[in-house]
Amino acid sequence: MKIVRAKDYNDMSRKAANIISAQVIMKPNCVLGLATGSTPIGTYAQLVEWYEKGDLDFSEVTTVNLDEYKGLPRDNDQSYYYFMNNNLFSKVNINLKRTFLPDGMEPDSEKACSDYDKVIASVGGVDLQLLGLGHNGHIGFNEPGTAFEAETHCVNLTESTVKANQRFFASIDDVPKQAYTMGIKTIMQAKKILVVVSGEDKAAIIKEAFFGPITPQVQASVLQLHNDVTIVADEAALSLVK
Ligand code: F6R
Repeated sequence: MKIVRAKDYNDMSRKAANIISAQVIMKPNCVLGLATGSTPIGTYAQLVEWYEKGDLDFSEVTTVNLDEYKGLPRDNDQSYYYFMNNNLFSKVNINLKRTFLPDGMEPDSEKACSDYDKVIASVGGVDLQLLGLGHNGHIGFNEPGTAFEAETHCVNLTESTVKANQRFFASIDDVPKQAYTMGIKTIMQAKKILVVVSGEDKAAIIKEAFFGPITPQVQASVLQLHNDVTIVADEAALSLVK
């Protein structure tokens, strides 16, 4: 496991974007595993800037995202497709036919998940998987206690997550109660993994996940067993790590 220390959020974003661009330059037809959330927004913005300068070409890149809410159409501004389109896909020359997320509008969970595993297999697996880190150590929607063997599966969102998301929707009934997520097994099959972490509020979980015991209670701790993981984190997030 390699830890790259960044000064602040912008520096973290630039350093992470550098690793992703190196991947795209070295293998133009690579498969990128992508994440949503607030942490990678700056990374995507940096990639867009380099694309606009003519330094990056996404025309042959394929992407597979970690997760999607069940029941939200792509044009809902809370869907992860909407997020990806807004932050990256619509701003670079990627072929939209090669951008994949679990199908949130497929009501049959088993079908949605097995279809997504087939998509990942059909593109030849993930070359570089980008991950954010949840405060409880979750990656994707894999919450504490989930078996490390899981492939893509349907998750019941905890009551606290549903309540926290309520502010983005007209009413609690509109808040998605389930999501589809790549499992830990799927994530661990990526050739390389890049984790971005920012802020003092993530300092305790970085220490626990990457320097503590490997346990399903802290899902990200399994990354200690992967042979090519780079963590790019800012000073604040690394404040408890020597
Ligand atoms: C995003 C995802 C989540 C986030 C995590 C951190 O697709 O699956 O695991 O990466 O919740 O979120 P932020 O970056 O908002 O702190």
